[in-house]
Amino acid sequence: MSTVLVTGGNGYIGSHTVISLYENGYDVIIADNLSNSKMEVQNRLEKICGKRFKFYNVDCCDEAALEKVFSENKIDSVIHFAGLKAVGESVRMPLEYYSNNINSMITVCKLMKKYGVNNLVFSSSATVYGMSEDVPFTEESPLGVCTNPYGWTKWMLEQILRDFAKAEPSMKVCLLRYFNPVGAHESGLIGEDPRGIPNNLFPYISKVAGGTLEKLTVFGDDYDTPDGTCIRDYIHVVDLADGHVKAIRYLESHDAGVSLFNLGTGKGTSVKEAVAAFEKACGHEINHVFGPRRPGDIAVCYASTEKAEKELGFVAKYGIDEMCSSCWKWQTMNPEGLSDD
Ligand code: NAD
Ligand code: UD1
Repeated sequence: MSTVLVTGGNGYIGSHTVISLYENGYDVIIADNLSNSKMEVQNRLEKICGKRFKFYNVDCCDEAALEKVFSENKIDSVIHFAGLKAVGESVRMPLEYYSNNINSMITVCKLMKKYGVNNLVFSSSATVYGMSEDVPFTEESPLGVCTNPYGWTKWMLEQILRDFAKAEPSMKVCLLRYFNPVGAHESGLIGEDPRGIPNNLFPYISKVAGGTLEKLTVFGDDYDTPDGTCIRDYIHVVDLADGHVKAIRYLESHDAGVSLFNLGTGKGTSVKEAVAAFEKACGHEINHVFGPRRPGDIAVCYASTEKAEKELGFVAKYGIDEMCSSCWKWQTMNPEGLSDD
């Protein structure tokens, strides 16, 4: 059985990916410092999979501590999710973002090299396309100028990994550029569990629908789009998780080097359409008002999915209705999120 180390595997996308890996016959080891997730996720994963995964509470920047994970296990592949991801926070705390995101990746790479682990999947983001509106974004679209330190860490890490793979002829690196991951596992036991007031659309709508927040402010309705609100490529987190299994299989069956794939649906949904779809899922109106544009937002962003379909065999199965209904199930089953104990 092939073993995958999932760093950040206690987080939102990581925990869903752990399930997909397990369901596809992989053994999984999780390394997470719990800086943005709660230990209860491990109990929920055990409920869903009927198995307790090996879990290390470790900071991936701490080489000595992370080395224990590599020395105690025979690891075949790594999926590196561990990182900080809040755009606004990254503007206020750039050093923490550069330090955590870049050092954790470099430490993982050093240990992969030392222990002869050659397969690496990295969580990148559509944010590396910058402010361009030349949609759909293909993997050949030029990298843009990022608008915040979080985005730059992804941009820089892609380059660092290209250089690493060039210097290490046995390394196989797969860069995955996610569009907008939303939704939750069908069980309602795990989902996106942000601390404090959410910044992103779906967690915010969920809290308004659930009554914890009073109203959604739609950031701008004067964009050059059919209904005036911004368009994004929302992708169900369970589809995204499946994309990671396909990426691992791809690495297992390909030669060394760097590969790169967008993970999206190729379909754009406006903020107004997202609100309407959520209203359908929860069965009542979502209180919302229209406010000014949010600085840094682009009008339209969606993926070209051609390459992922052709080379990875990846096609997203779920649409906006399933994304909303799974979010709503997670919200109603866990109105306060997961507990900290
Ligand atoms: P998340 O915050 O839910 O998960 C990240 C996990 O990594 C958390 O459990 C956190 O505790 C852990 N972590 C952070 N720094 C760590 C460190 N130094 N050592 C060990 N563990 C550490 O975030 P997510 O939404 O699941 O995102 C996972 C990855 O995907 C991130 O790298 C993120 O930047 C990237 N990504 C996310 C999105 C999105 O919209 N969620 C979009 C594009 C890319
Ligand atoms: C944001 C980040 C992006 C990151 C992605 C990961 C910014 C500028 N971009 O993308 O770098 O990779 O999250 O999840 O933060 N909206 C509202 N009201 C709200 C919240 C959002 O109208 O309260 C709108 C936004 O203007 C946007 C859409 O909803 O048009 C989606 O927003 P969001 O969920 O924050 O994602 P992105 O901005 O696409």
